[in-house]
Amino acid sequence: MKLKALLLVLAAAGALPLAAQADIGNGKALYSKDCMSCHRSIAGGDGSSLFTRPNRHVTSLGGLDKQVKRCRANTGLSLSDNQLKDIVDYLNATYYKFAK
Ligand code: HEC
Repeated sequence: MKLKALLLVLAAAGALPLAAQADIGNGKALYSKDCMSCHRSIAGGDGSSLFTRPNRHVTSLGGLDKQVKRCRANTGLSLSDNQLKDIVDYLNATYYKFAK
């Protein structure tokens, strides 16, 4: 019982990541599998210049979320909301770097 109480205190203090956290590695794998080839054919290279060009469309974390959903809808990919979150976190951590 005491141990359980201690764990709860640690979790509340943020010392233990008990809540589901986005998995950037998973986001990268999903992006490479489902998204990259189309971006490649548009932008050349590995396609990532879409995210780094000066006139990129996405200008905020909310906008990134929307664009990822738009691309999912346009392409009929079946990705869960958690999978989308992993992809958004991967793209943000790697290219966009918006503050959370
Ligand atoms: C069938 C083609 C296709 C697929 C598959 C696709 N996209 Fe896209 N994506 C596009 C096009 C087209 C654009 C807009 C390019 C432009 O405006 O020049 C775009 C743009 C984007 C942008 C915005 C880039 C910017 O300007 O800031 C993001 C983010 C993005 N896609 C994420 C994804 C993700 C994540 C997936 C996979 C779930 C995905 N896309 C799958 C075609 C695709």
